Amino acid sequence: MPLLLQPPEPNNSGLESLLWALTKNKEWFEKMIIKNSAVLLRGYDVKNAQDFNGIIEAFGWDDIRYVGPAPRTHVYKRVWTANEGPLSEFIYYHHEMVLIKESPEKVVLFCEVPPPEGGQTPFVPSFKVTERMLEEHPEAVDEMEERGLKYSFTAPSNSDTSSMRGRGWEDAFATSDRAEAEKRAKALGMDMEWLPNGGVKTILGPRSLTRVFDGRKGRRMWFNTLVGMYGKEHSAAMMADGTEIPKNVVKRCEEIIEEESIQFKWEKGDVLFLDNMALLHGRRPSLPPRKVLVATCK
Ligand SMILES: [Fe+2]
Repeated sequence: MPLLLQPPEPNNSGLESLLWALTKNKEWFEKMIIKNSAVLLRGYDVKNAQDFNGIIEAFGWDDIRYVGPAPRTHVYKRVWTANEGPLSEFIYYHHEMVLIKESPEKVVLFCEVPPPEGGQTPFVPSFKVTERMLEEHPEAVDEMEERGLKYSFTAPSNSDTSSMRGRGWEDAFATSDRAEAEKRAKALGMDMEWLPNGGVKTILGPRSLTRVFDGRKGRRMWFNTLVGMYGKEHSAAMMADGTEIPKNVVKRCEEIIEEESIQFKWEKGDVLFLDNMALLHGRRPSLPPRKVLVATCK
C-alpha cells in the first residue's frame, strides 16, 4: 500500500495523457481506491493547484465542503491548503470529517513542495484498530458501542493559524451571524453553547464507535475520534450518557494506532488518493517548506 501508478515510459508523463487515461478508466480507478485503500500517482507532470484541480475534475466526483477544526485556505476551484497550522506540530490521525453526517469518501492530496525533513503523511488501516481493540479491551469496546460516544469542542470566533485546531466558527460556518451558525451547525448534527469570549462550544453526539461501509469487505472501521479529542485542552470525549471512558483504554488505543501506522514520504508531484472510509491519516511534524494541497470528494 498504496497502489503505485507511474507513467508507462518516462517520456510519457504529460498531464494531458494522464487526464485522458483517468477519464477513460474512471470506474476502474475508483475500484482500485476501495480495493487498495490508497492509490498513488507518481512521476507525472503535475506541477500546481491548477493541474491538480484538472485531475479532480477529470473524475467528476462531487465536492464536499470541509467542516472541521483545521484552518484552511482556498487555493483554486476544488483545491485547498491541507492545514495552515504550524508545521512543527503533529496532526493526529483522523478520518476526514468523521463527526459530520456526510464525510467525504475520498481525500486526495497533492504534493507541490515536499518537505526537506519529516512531514510524512502516515496512515492506518482503520479495521486493524478495531480488531486489536476487540482483542485487548472487548468489554470497553462493547460498552462504548452500545452507549455511543459524545464529543465537545471549543472553537474561537476567528481563525487562529497559530493552532492547527484554530479554525474559528465564523470561518467554519461561513457566517458571522450566530443564529445562522446555529442553524448550519444543527444541519450537521451539532449543538452549540456560546462562550463569553465570543467563541463557541460545540457538542456532538451520540456518535458510533465503529462503522461498516459498503464494499469494504464487511470490515468494522474505527470510525471515531476518541483518541484525538479525549482529555485535550479544547476538546473532550465521553460516552453519550456522560459516562467517563477509562484512561487506560484510550491510552492503549493510541499505542495501537501508532503501531499500525504506515509512513508515507512525499515526492514532488505526488497525487495520493485515500479511501477515507478505510484509512485514518495524519501529518508528521516537518521542517519548512512543505506544501501539500487537498480536495475532498464524495
Ligand atoms: Fe485530514
